[in-house]
Amino acid sequence: MPSGGFQPIEGGQQVVRSGVTKTLVLSVFTAILGSFQFGYNIGVINAPQKIIEQSYNESWISRSSSGSGSIDPGLLRTLWSLSVAIFSIGGMVSSLSVGVVSQWLGRKRAMVINNVFAFLAGSLMGLSQVCQSYEMMIVGRFLIGVYSGLASGLVPMYVGEISPTHLRGALGTLHQLSLVIGILVAQVLGLEMFLGSSSRWPALFWVTLIPAAVQSLMLPFCPESPRFLYIVCEQEAQAKKSLRRFTGLLDVTNDLSDMKEEKRQMDSEPKVSILQIFRSRNYRQPIVVAIILQLSQQLSGINAIFYYSTDIFSKAGVEQPIYATIGAGIVNTAFTVVSLFLIERAGRRTLHLLGLAGMIVCALLMTVAMALQETVPTLSYLSMAAIFGFVAFFEIGPGPIPWFIVAELFSQGPRPAAMAIAGFTNWTSNFIIGMGFQYVADLCGPYVFLLFGALLFAFLIFTYLRVPETRGRSFDEISHGFRKRNPSLLDQEVKASTEMESLGGPDEA
Ligand code: GLC
Repeated sequence: MPSGGFQPIEGGQQVVRSGVTKTLVLSVFTAILGSFQFGYNIGVINAPQKIIEQSYNESWISRSSSGSGSIDPGLLRTLWSLSVAIFSIGGMVSSLSVGVVSQWLGRKRAMVINNVFAFLAGSLMGLSQVCQSYEMMIVGRFLIGVYSGLASGLVPMYVGEISPTHLRGALGTLHQLSLVIGILVAQVLGLEMFLGSSSRWPALFWVTLIPAAVQSLMLPFCPESPRFLYIVCEQEAQAKKSLRRFTGLLDVTNDLSDMKEEKRQMDSEPKVSILQIFRSRNYRQPIVVAIILQLSQQLSGINAIFYYSTDIFSKAGVEQPIYATIGAGIVNTAFTVVSLFLIERAGRRTLHLLGLAGMIVCALLMTVAMALQETVPTLSYLSMAAIFGFVAFFEIGPGPIPWFIVAELFSQGPRPAAMAIAGFTNWTSNFIIGMGFQYVADLCGPYVFLLFGALLFAFLIFTYLRVPETRGRSFDEISHGFRKRNPSLLDQEVKASTEMESLGGPDEA
């Protein structure tokens, strides 16, 4: 897209011909408040664990008729694990419906309505102490998981669809940036001196209402995705209006013709459901890439660090594990910013490869440091540095890229179903790590990160062999690229379009 020039618009006003307009900034900012909410709820439950467990215990005592004393420690552990893990179950369930919901309500309305879950969840969790009900906390965690599962598909989809091609990666990375800022804010607010005390902890959950309220108030001012309006709803005039607001240009022929090409492509194929994505040879390659990229994000072991960092740091001999956890949150945020600036220069593929390779080296260093920790206590510094490095490399590539690349790998037709599959894969593997890590860590001791190192190595090879570069390419060029890698699909395509032409349609508008 040209930049820097001026072009008249209705009413004699002039607008800057730039890729970044106020409407684009407002809309991206509003959308990624959903990512903040998601990240906040990943991080919020860690620091105040002991205090909330104590409150569960108090509820138990006050409700037992005989006043029979404290809750059984085994039951308390189960209730706590459930409170943590049910978040991912909510995410698994709702991420599967992203495709249907985003087609039915549209991207924007779906994001507005999604906030109902956040309001309900925040209120239930905030009131759980005063109502002496851990059930309310658990249901609240499930509902905020449902919110987050939907947001994890809707936000990257909306941002991907409204971004100009040359900024799609950078703007796509903002989802992850907002998410990691959410994690960090939750870690800091969870400190005892802020809201992580036995009297103030419910406020940690009331905070959830703030992004929900702000997002609900701001979304009505953001235009709907022009791709949704044109390709799905066939409302050309509305789509043009939306495009003009996003681009600041009066003449939106270029963007419109990209969308027309996508629509032509979509119309020439049957409607795409989740099952059909797996069946169609057209989509097999990109869906495998999308799934493996999600697995490379979650099975890298990153959430072993984010869920259990305090424990990992103390086992590694770090003296102030809580502060080391916040340190990890800061490194996490800082390197997401680095990725934001690199993504349109270095490209997705290179950064993903670099990130995975760096994580492998750090996993090896962590293993050496942890294994020798008993004999050489100063190695705790190496462990800490290796963990920080692991997090930093994660955010260079495997953190942000899988979230937005799925929207790039698919054209409009299969995109919603593909996002649902990718989201479900992400949430399921997240759940597996959340539930399983502690058991595996007990089995493997200091060698547990070797396991992640091996998985990372497999993902590195796959990325090298199979993941295409998507930077600077239109959605249609990307899907065409996959067909080019599989010449038999191209043959079929040529045959189909010749048949279409001989039947007299559809026209390339
Ligand atoms: C990614 C992951 C999420 C993880 C976060 C850490 O967004 O999807 O599970 O907690 O990165 O920064």
